[in-house]
Amino acid sequence: MSKTLLVTGAAGFIGVNFCNYWLGRYATDRIIGFDILSYAGNRHSLEQAELNDRFEFVAGDILDQTLIETLLRDQKVDDIVHFAAESHVDRSITAPDLFLETNIMGTHSLLKAARQVWLTEQADGRHRFHHVSTDEVYGTLAPQDPAFCETTAYQPNSPYSASKAASDHMVRAYHHTYGLDVTTSNCSNNYGPFHFPEKLIPLCIINILNGKALPIYGDGQQIRDWLYVEDHCRGIDLVLTNGRAGETYNIGGNNEKANIDLVNVLCKLVDEKFNNNPELKQRFPDAPAANQKTSDSLITYVSDRPGHDRRYAVDVSKAHSELGYEPKETFEKGLSKTLNWYLDNENWWRTVLDGSYREWIDEQYGS
Ligand code: NAD
Ligand code: DAU
Repeated sequence: MSKTLLVTGAAGFIGVNFCNYWLGRYATDRIIGFDILSYAGNRHSLEQAELNDRFEFVAGDILDQTLIETLLRDQKVDDIVHFAAESHVDRSITAPDLFLETNIMGTHSLLKAARQVWLTEQADGRHRFHHVSTDEVYGTLAPQDPAFCETTAYQPNSPYSASKAASDHMVRAYHHTYGLDVTTSNCSNNYGPFHFPEKLIPLCIINILNGKALPIYGDGQQIRDWLYVEDHCRGIDLVLTNGRAGETYNIGGNNEKANIDLVNVLCKLVDEKFNNNPELKQRFPDAPAANQKTSDSLITYVSDRPGHDRRYAVDVSKAHSELGYEPKETFEKGLSKTLNWYLDNENWWRTVLDGSYREWIDEQYGS
């Protein structure tokens, strides 16, 4: 049977990838893509989804409970997939308030709307609220510690992860107290197309192409588990479709890398692409590889992030045994596909960086 999903944060990095994934996989499902279009949300990124008449974009704030309730009723929404959030740890350190407002109060506003329409008015028991969370809620690991599993105690260390942890607890409470059908996934560091260039991988790709420094925080030995975004979308699909109500599932890439090692691999990959394709030297004349240098010459150690978590690692055995989840993309291929995407979509990152995509939106859709 066909479904209608309300996808919050649809114009952000994972939201865009998820809309494209879902519309491609489920030929008759509809998506209402909902987003406030903050600095991280880009309507331009939804171009592919918007070609599809099963996709509709609605601009709005998840804190607007009345608007969400109207959408749930009028659009006959079956399930919510909730991505909308403030997502960047560094921003949460310099300006935490918005993280509490969006991630905690915003999630609560959605839960209230779902309770009102799905439990009080409709009470047909066929709706699901899927909450997208992060492995950062579990805190940090020492080198020999076992990976985070779903029963690991929450120990969030940044204002960002603390706000996500609080939202996870509210989702759980709405299941336990009111019987709302909820699932939560806690995933590791995603990478892939449409990743906003404040995050490590896209920032480094673009800085290499522009011949700018690659800032490595602290000693660069912090470890993250890198997950190709399409694997994450498939993981969410499995949880939404077959996960047990009230449960949480970890989704990871089985791919731990120290930051400095990752950046070195990326540098080599860029150098190889430039050597194999001389046209790139003309397109990006400031890149080291266009000037008989190697990209790693741009690596610059800078002050560490305050409270920087040392290591994340995610144990996916619950999602594997219950849902058949496993990451499919290898890191080498995933990184190469990501780099190719940024090389092929220079216009996207240039407009995102200079903010002129807002003019593009006005041209396309009126202000
Ligand atoms: P992102 O910052 O790229 O996108 C977030 C989107 O939410 C943006 O489009 C923004 O405009 C929108 N948004 C913000 N406030 C809103 C509001 N009040 N109302 C409506 N929309 C609003 O983030 P992302 O990387 O795509 O992450 C999506 C979700 O996945 C987040 O909840 C994040 O915590 C979680 N997550 C991300 C990663 C990762 O590696 N990127 C890993 C684990 C979990
Ligand atoms: O683990 C999941 C989380 O991954 C998500 O919940 C967050 O939304 C997402 O932003 C991401 O958080 P990180 O802080 O791990 O991602 P970021 O890309 O900001 O940084 C990755 C690592 O690289 C981290 O150890 C900090 C480091 N770093 C980052 C930047 C931007 C640098 O050394 N230099 C940099 O310039």
